Amino acid sequence: MNVVLCDDYQQMSTQAATVFAECLAANPAAVLGLATGSTPIGVYENLIARFKAGEISFAEATSFNLDEYIGLHRDHPQSYYYFMHQQLFNHVDLPSQRIFVPSGVESDYGAYCQWYEDRITEAGGIDLQILGIGSDGHIAFNEPGTALGSRTHITELDHQTIDDNARFFQSKAEVPRRAITMGVATIMDARKIILLATGEHKATAIRDAIAGPVSSECTASALQQHPDVTFYLDSAAACLLPAE
Ligand code: PGA
Repeated sequence: MNVVLCDDYQQMSTQAATVFAECLAANPAAVLGLATGSTPIGVYENLIARFKAGEISFAEATSFNLDEYIGLHRDHPQSYYYFMHQQLFNHVDLPSQRIFVPSGVESDYGAYCQWYEDRITEAGGIDLQILGIGSDGHIAFNEPGTALGSRTHITELDHQTIDDNARFFQSKAEVPRRAITMGVATIMDARKIILLATGEHKATAIRDAIAGPVSSECTASALQQHPDVTFYLDSAAACLLPAE
């Protein structure tokens, strides 16, 4: 596990965007694993700027998003499908037929979750996955207690996650209670993983992820067993890490 300490959000976003740019330079047909939340917005802004400057292209790439709220249609402003189009897809040349965001409005989720896994496999697996982390240590919506061997599945959101995400909705009551998410094992299959975190409210989760036991109580701790993972942290998120 590598840990990169960043001066601030901007520097973290630039460094993470550089990892994407290098991935696309090495393989223009790369399969990218993308995340929502506040944390990656700066990375997407940086990638859009590099695309507009002619430095990178997504024309041959494929993307898979981690998760989606159950019950929100694509055009709901808080759906992750909508978020990704606002924050990235509408501004770059990634072809729509190679954009995969889990659907929040399926009727047969047993079949749909397997379908999503199969699309990732068919694409050749994820080359580079970006992650945020929840204040409860979740990656994607793999809440505490989720099996580390899990694949794409439906999950109940934790109270902590509902509280954390209420800021995006008009009231806490509007936050969906369930989500579809890639499983921990789905994420662990990615060939390279970068996890970004800023702020003191992430410090406990970061400590448990990096220095705690590998446990489903902090699903990010599974990353300790991944061969190529780098955490990009500001000093506040890193403040509880033990000194080396
Ligand atoms: P955030 O969410 O980037 O909005 O803090 C991270 C997460 O819940 O994974």
